[in-house]
Amino acid sequence: MKVPDNSNLVIFGASGDLTFRKLVPALYHLFQTKQLPDCFFVLGVGRSEFSDEAFRERLAVYLRDEYALSDQDLSGFLPHLHYLALDTQNAQAYASLKHRLDVLYEHYNTPHNTLFYLATPPSLFPIIPRCLAAHGLHEEHSGWKRLIVEKPIGYDLKSAIALDDALHEVFREEQIYRIDHYLGKETVQNLLVFRFANGMFEPLWSRNYIDYVEITGAENIGVEERGGYYDGAGALRDMFQNHLLQVLAMVAMEPSAAINADATRDEAAKVLQSLQPIQKDDLQERVVLGQYTASVVRGESLDAYRDELHVKPDSRTETYLALKLFINNWRWQDVPFYVRTGKRMPTRVTEVVIHFKSSPHPVFRENAPHNRLIIRIQPDEGILMVFGLKKPGAGFEAEEVSMDFHYQDLGETKLLTAYERLLMDAMNGDATLFARSDAVKACWKFVEPILDYKAQQPAVYGYASGTWGPREADELLKRDGREWRFPCKNLANTDYCEL
Ligand code: BG6
Repeated sequence: MKVPDNSNLVIFGASGDLTFRKLVPALYHLFQTKQLPDCFFVLGVGRSEFSDEAFRERLAVYLRDEYALSDQDLSGFLPHLHYLALDTQNAQAYASLKHRLDVLYEHYNTPHNTLFYLATPPSLFPIIPRCLAAHGLHEEHSGWKRLIVEKPIGYDLKSAIALDDALHEVFREEQIYRIDHYLGKETVQNLLVFRFANGMFEPLWSRNYIDYVEITGAENIGVEERGGYYDGAGALRDMFQNHLLQVLAMVAMEPSAAINADATRDEAAKVLQSLQPIQKDDLQERVVLGQYTASVVRGESLDAYRDELHVKPDSRTETYLALKLFINNWRWQDVPFYVRTGKRMPTRVTEVVIHFKSSPHPVFRENAPHNRLIIRIQPDEGILMVFGLKKPGAGFEAEEVSMDFHYQDLGETKLLTAYERLLMDAMNGDATLFARSDAVKACWKFVEPILDYKAQQPAVYGYASGTWGPREADELLKRDGREWRFPCKNLANTDYCEL
C-alpha cells in the first residue's frame, strides 16, 4: 500500500479499550513494516492524567503481554506516542490541545495533516467536533483534517440523522470516515474483486440464476464485559444494522464504474436504499429474536445472558437475530436473503452462501446437485464451490463435489488487519471502505420497523449457549423448504470452523 504523506493521529478515548486492543497494535504493526510516514506522531487524548512516559508504559505493558514483544521491539515505536489529559466536553480546554499540536507539529517538522479519531463513548461524537471547531482545529489551510467516527453511528434513524447533522456542522462529508471494521476485512473486499474482476460469475449473479442467499455472522463468545452497552443495543444494532448490511451491500450491489470512494459507495448506497421494508404484519414471521441461556459447552459452564455482568436480570435484549429480507430492484426481485447473527453459538464463523437455482430440466433427479458458492469471510478465509459430477461406476448418477480456495494457501501473504487497512486508507484519503452518510441512513431506515417491533416486546426465544440459535430460526427457512447451511467441516473442532 502507498505510504501516506507525513501526517498525525489524535485519538480521543486514548485510555479506552479500543485504543489498546485495536488501534495501537495496528499502528505498531504498520510502524514495524515501515508503512507509516517518516514523520508522524500519535497524540492520545483522554480524561485520566498521564505523562507521555506513563502513557507509553501502559501501552508497552499491554503490547508486551498480548504480543510477546520485547522492550527492544518497542523502542522505535513508543517515542512517537504522546498524551494529553483533557476534559473533552469543555470547548475552552481545547486551547491546550491546539497548543500541544503546534508544539508537536514543529517538533516532528510535519505538515498539519491530522486525523482525529473518535474512540470515545458515542455521547461525545457530536461534542468533540464542535470543540475542535471552536479553536479552528478543523481548518485545512496548513494541512488536511479528517475525522474518524467509530460505531455506533446513531441509535436509530433519528439519532443517526442528528449525529450526521452535528458532524456536518464542522466537517464536510469528504472529511468524515465512518469505520465499519467489516469493510476493512480482506475477504469482505474480496467480494468486490471476486464479483467484478471475473467475467464468469457476474452473469449468473441475479434472480435469473440465484435461488436465495444466506449470510451468517456467528460468534462463540458471549457479551463478555460489554453487557452495559450490549443490553441497550442487541444483535440488531450491534451486528446487523452495520456489519452484516455492509456485507450484504457488497454481495448485492451493481458493478461500479470504478473502484473509488464515490463510485463504489454510490452503488452500495443504492442497494441499501432498495431494501424492501418489512411490513408490520410480516415482522413476526420474518424476524426471529433469541437470547442465550445457560449451558455446559465442552465441559465449561456458561452463564445465561441474563446473568452476565451489567445485564438486567429480566432483559429481553436479543443476542441472536435471524431475518428474511428482499431487495427491490431488477437484479434481486423475489430472491430471499436470510441473515443470521448470534453470540454464544457453537463457533465463530462469518460467511455468505449463494444458492443457485437447480437445473431447469433435472434429468438426474436422484441426488440432484445443489449448486452453491460459499464465500468464507472468517475464519479459514476462502471460497468453496459445490457442484455435481458423475458418480464413478455404472449408470448415470450425479454426486456433489466441491472446489475450494483458501487464502492460507497463498503462503507468505500476510493479510492486514481491518484496523491497519482502514487507518492507512484514512491517512491516504481513500474513503472507499468507509460507510457514507446516505448508506448509514438507509440501513437505519430498514431497521427502524424492526426496532419498533422490538419495542412491543415480541417473543424472544431462548437457545442454549453453544447451539445454532432458537428452533424458530430453523422454521424461518423450513417454511420455504430450505435450511441453514451447516458451516463447519468438522464440528468436533469448534474452535476453528474450517471451510
Ligand atoms: C463489533 C461488535 O462491532 O463486532 C461485537 O460490537 C462483535 O459485539 C464484533 O463481537 C465482531 O467482530 P469480528 O471482527 O470479531 O467478527
